[in-house]
Amino acid sequence: MPIEHADTVRRAASIPEIKDRAKCLGIEFRPLNPVFGAEVLGVDLSQPLPDSTKSLLQDAQWRYGVTLYRGQSMGPAEETNFLLSFPHNESAIAEQRFCNGFFPERVPGHPMLAVRGKTSFVPVWHMDKNELVCPPELCSIYMLKAPAVGGETLYASAVHAYERLSSDQKAFFETLQCEYRADSAFRGLTIHENGVWRVDDVEAAVKLADEDPVELKYGPRYMVHPLVIQDPYTGLKSIFYNTALFTNFVGYSRQQSREILEDALVAATAPELVVEMKWQPGDFVMWSNRMVFHSNTPDVMFNASERHFHLAFLDSKTPVTAAREGVQSMA
Ligand SMILES: [Fe+2]
Repeated sequence: MPIEHADTVRRAASIPEIKDRAKCLGIEFRPLNPVFGAEVLGVDLSQPLPDSTKSLLQDAQWRYGVTLYRGQSMGPAEETNFLLSFPHNESAIAEQRFCNGFFPERVPGHPMLAVRGKTSFVPVWHMDKNELVCPPELCSIYMLKAPAVGGETLYASAVHAYERLSSDQKAFFETLQCEYRADSAFRGLTIHENGVWRVDDVEAAVKLADEDPVELKYGPRYMVHPLVIQDPYTGLKSIFYNTALFTNFVGYSRQQSREILEDALVAATAPELVVEMKWQPGDFVMWSNRMVFHSNTPDVMFNASERHFHLAFLDSKTPVTAAREGVQSMA
């Protein structure tokens, strides 16, 4: 199937420019973390937003990576419309070919919104649907009912993960290509001794990958993507990686691959660099899926009846762009 390309790419404003424009619109961005993320104050998503606000929020999304809108009371139509104000694959949405189709329960009449909450996958740092040619650029959670304890979502900046590397490491990482096997997902992963779920045992995670292939309905079984990609809206580079689906770098063994990555990723997900989202009802969070890692936390920490949210992956028509020319994606 031919790849659909984004029609136009509008370069996002810088953070100082975003803050200036926000002041004029009565909006404030409050940092969630020293390196990324912002709480957005002064926006009511239940009301129609002027184009100037939508454009500002879009720029802020790409620059901050995670945006949190607290105390929202929008309905599913407003939620869908707001998501669709961001770049997306129109034909996939119109034809309801949603890349999060593996969540069968949907908000009635609003099929882009999956109903989730009681259970999660194994907690592990990842980006959603890395195995696609055009993984979603934007994902969102709208929390309707939250447990008092547990059920947090963790976020870490994949842009910072790249930026904190030495110049030699950056140059080397930009040459690497990741192999993903979707049928090896979520196996054999462990918890770091400090209690945070981490990149710990890539080898164990993929030990079943060589078994008979399984039929996959919602994406290819195998994909190669560059490890370092470049965001079209900001020019920022990020480490594009999914612990659960990664097997090895092209040309490297699993053990070598693990050794190359481990220090960089463990450092980038240090507790002080992680945004821990302690959910409250009415929280709406969007994350730039190609620029931010996320992880759930164990379900056993809360009662299954206590959590209820909408989850959207906004289908994209923009292929992953390698940070370095000549390092390509291959299906
Ligand atoms: Fe996810």
